[in-house]
Amino acid sequence: MFLSVILITFLITLIFIYVIGNNNERYWKKRGIKFYSKNKVLGVYWDFFTKKGALFETFGELYNEYKKEPAIGIGSLMSPSLFVTNPKNMQQVLQADFNSFNHRGIERNEGDILADNIVFLNGPRWKLMRQSMSPLFTSAKLKNMYYIMDKSAQDLVAYMKEHPKLWEGDCYETMMTFCNASVCGAIFGIGAQSIFDSPFLDLAKKAFTPSFKRNLAFATMQLSPRLFNFLGLKLFKDLEDTFIGAITKVIERRKNENVKKHDFADLCINIQKNGIMKDFASGCEVKPTDGVLAAQALTFLAAGIEPVATVMFNTFLHLGRNPDILQKMHQEIDETFEKHNGKVNFDVINTMEYTDKVLNEAMRISPPLGYLTRRCVKDTVLPVGNIKVESGTNMYTPIYALHHDPDIYPEPDVFNPERFAKGINYSDEFYMPFGIGNRMCIGARYSKLQMAAGVVHVLKHFTVRTKKTNTDTKFKYHIVNVRPIDADVEFIPRNTK
Ligand code: HEM
Repeated sequence: MFLSVILITFLITLIFIYVIGNNNERYWKKRGIKFYSKNKVLGVYWDFFTKKGALFETFGELYNEYKKEPAIGIGSLMSPSLFVTNPKNMQQVLQADFNSFNHRGIERNEGDILADNIVFLNGPRWKLMRQSMSPLFTSAKLKNMYYIMDKSAQDLVAYMKEHPKLWEGDCYETMMTFCNASVCGAIFGIGAQSIFDSPFLDLAKKAFTPSFKRNLAFATMQLSPRLFNFLGLKLFKDLEDTFIGAITKVIERRKNENVKKHDFADLCINIQKNGIMKDFASGCEVKPTDGVLAAQALTFLAAGIEPVATVMFNTFLHLGRNPDILQKMHQEIDETFEKHNGKVNFDVINTMEYTDKVLNEAMRISPPLGYLTRRCVKDTVLPVGNIKVESGTNMYTPIYALHHDPDIYPEPDVFNPERFAKGINYSDEFYMPFGIGNRMCIGARYSKLQMAAGVVHVLKHFTVRTKKTNTDTKFKYHIVNVRPIDADVEFIPRNTK
């Protein structure tokens, strides 16, 4: 009896898989779109869960195989999904047709308080939160914050000098620590005795460290929003008490100190003073509770640490592999410090053209996020291939694969900052480390300043070498990030003051 139940369940599952897979394939073939038939039910997620490596690598293989197609249908349980390969179509999805594609394709379940953030939100609630947080990143605010980034970078150098064991191996953790101190100081106004003793670093790491459970929840969210909602999956429940408590303390302390720092804490005090936030066009209302504000803080903290540290790490890695470029970088840094009496402030860092080119190329060759997602919320048509896209369709667009397309970037694996020489501007649809369109990264300008501060100060005092010169990089198993793992960077002190 038991055996027959198992057998029948197994048979029903097989039939179910067969029917769903065939429906997915038929759905796209009917629209004249090629279909990725390796796994017709789970598509790229099957590869991700059964292979080593990051999900963006599978998207890369798909891109290389189908880049002449306008888009490729992929299996995604019962939601139609499209991997957009044509740059014009990508631009339509990410930028031009915001009415149809303003949804990030990410869900959140009621009660997952920390997921109530700009990255995860959609519709009028997203618009309200984005508008309310944008004042944090104006030019005037960034100029105000820069001295804290610069101070954190100086502390990083002092710490590295005191601890030679940090000079070899994986410097990624060290760069994360610097980023944490910088974000805590610049955005949240929290200073620490040492950049290496902040409780926030552990929280930020925990929030976005991949685990099987979190990957599965994330994949379910994209494969079947209905199933995700039905199961009531929550992504950040474990962090809630500690993180909301910590941010509430930051806001309370600022109220009591009665000083103005024009940072996140000040912004929160103002928002809470003004009461309910309202989007008049839609009537959407949001009460700015400590939980809602902590949710925004969590993304700023995590985004200010992981991707920025990744770019710094990659910059050192590529400079170590390219001594001639490293030498030019040192030259610009030495000359700039000398010209400005050893002080590089906001206005000065913005004049460092070679540094800017190097950072741009580091984000071209290794963008910290490998692909972008959207969900269609209104039936529409993609221009190239005249593809009809129905509301509810999941959209995927590559970043890494595009940045490595030899038709766009000749010799894409060669680190060449001159690609970004003055006068050469890659149009948005070919260069998008921070995404594009209305949902583009809110912290793009902030990030560039923080990474520049860190890289410039470290290279003022150290030179870098990489032992492994091979460019056949392996990547960390991750559902969104791009992070090389088999790379080593060695820092060697320079003879400077
Ligand atoms: C090197 C550093 C960073 C990289 C490469 C990066 C990259 C990205 C990308 C690719 C997106 C998605 C854009 C899209 O869908 O079109 C994004 C969104 C976002 N980023 Fe960043 N980011 C970085 C740092 C930061 C920092 C420092 C902050 C805040 C302090 C931040 C806050 C956000 C937010 C809030 C969003 C969601 C925007 C929205 O949906 O409206 N990011 N970022």
